[in-house]
Amino acid sequence: MFGGTDAVVEALRQDNSGIGAKPYSGSNVHPGRRLLRNQILFFSDAFSKSSLDELVPRFVQSLKTWCEASDEIGTEWVEKSDLYEFVRDVLFDCNVDSFFGKSLRALNPNLSADFWEYDDNIGFLATPKPRWLNRRAVLAMERCHAAMKRWRKNAVDESAKRTISDDAAWDPAWGLGAIRRRNKLLDATEGLFDEHNRGSIDLALLWSLTSNVIPASFWYLFEVLSSEGLLARAVKEIEKQKQNDPDTNDPVLDSTERTTTPLLEAIYAETVRLHVITLITRTVKKSYSVEGWILPQNQNVIVSSQIEHMSRQWDSPDGKHPSSEFWPDRFLLPESSDTIDEEEKFSLEGRQGQWIPFGLGEHMCPGRHFAKQEMIISFAVLTHFFEFELLTPPGWRPDNDLSRYGFGTQQPKQKVPFRVRRRTS
Ligand code: HEM
Repeated sequence: MFGGTDAVVEALRQDNSGIGAKPYSGSNVHPGRRLLRNQILFFSDAFSKSSLDELVPRFVQSLKTWCEASDEIGTEWVEKSDLYEFVRDVLFDCNVDSFFGKSLRALNPNLSADFWEYDDNIGFLATPKPRWLNRRAVLAMERCHAAMKRWRKNAVDESAKRTISDDAAWDPAWGLGAIRRRNKLLDATEGLFDEHNRGSIDLALLWSLTSNVIPASFWYLFEVLSSEGLLARAVKEIEKQKQNDPDTNDPVLDSTERTTTPLLEAIYAETVRLHVITLITRTVKKSYSVEGWILPQNQNVIVSSQIEHMSRQWDSPDGKHPSSEFWPDRFLLPESSDTIDEEEKFSLEGRQGQWIPFGLGEHMCPGRHFAKQEMIISFAVLTHFFEFELLTPPGWRPDNDLSRYGFGTQQPKQKVPFRVRRRTS
């Protein structure tokens, strides 16, 4: 998928040491080649508090700057052919700049177009089919890989010119300081990560960062716009957050506390329930029996989130809201039964193993908290600056395009025409 050499694939296959600080007993992998452990170490650095304190405000600022500067959208309605493309193109740039720094796009002006062509073909690239069956897919991947190498070479050259404290959360050449620090882990892999394979691991990072959360942010905005009365409820909740902070008049929800309001979280949980389809893969370590089935040791198993997310367990108790409907209120419970002015709280109570858009257990997605913030912030900022109206029939929703089945968030199958104008107050 990311253009790494066979040696990397083989090293991943050989890594039976687990993710813990101590390798599993019986594993004899070279300490520098504990690739899954390295991934955990990198992501706990990249999503540490000090790193997020750098990343999230940068993302917000980047999106605000785009909204303020976009002179194509004035106070008169402008019709556009596809809301997904609109959201995708804006968020990709903001994501990339706030994670990798500005040089990645500056050095590769065609990155966004190349990346989405590559991502559209990820299903093909993930299989061992002969590459000549889809040359365009391979060429798109190669262009993205070359872009990451160009960025890395520039970062290495720039780093040689200045000294940055080793624990700095941000490095102008590398973006997040964690990305520069990851080089130490790569250096210790006994030559496995040469320049080519470093380009691949950088491409893997770019793909993880953008390919799921961007379509999910589109669905968040789309579902709110298309559900009667929901936009007003969501905007009211955002306004309440702003009033909690008298110092700012901004649309900014730049901290975890301010994005975790019950309704905004419920919309997020419902969005990923309906639009994320992931195949969670595991190997059975010890023979196990479940409801009369035996899972023998070493058996590979796959669980589809779609089966869990679309099952009748999600129908509302009164039968009015089936699992196929977008209805965020299924995640809202009364805060306490003895208050008159009942507040609601967001709850996943009793949903363990039923709500699994980010997987579960020790391999659960390390980017999930950031993904939630990005989805909610993107919605808050875009609707603060702009008014959106769907030009689609009431109640219509595009299908999930199942060509990315198993890879996470599905893209919309049909285009979503809309109109947009700048808010004046
Ligand atoms: C809406 C957005 C996202 C969705 C739906 C999503 C979903 C998933 C799922 C289902 C898994 C597999 C979990 C398992 O096997 O139990 C996963 C793993 C992973 N995700 Fe995400 N993800 C999202 C965003 C992100 C972001 C923003 C990043 C980081 C920049 C990220 C990085 C990763 C990594 C590195 C893994 C592999 C973890 C491991 O195997 O230990 N994801 N993600």
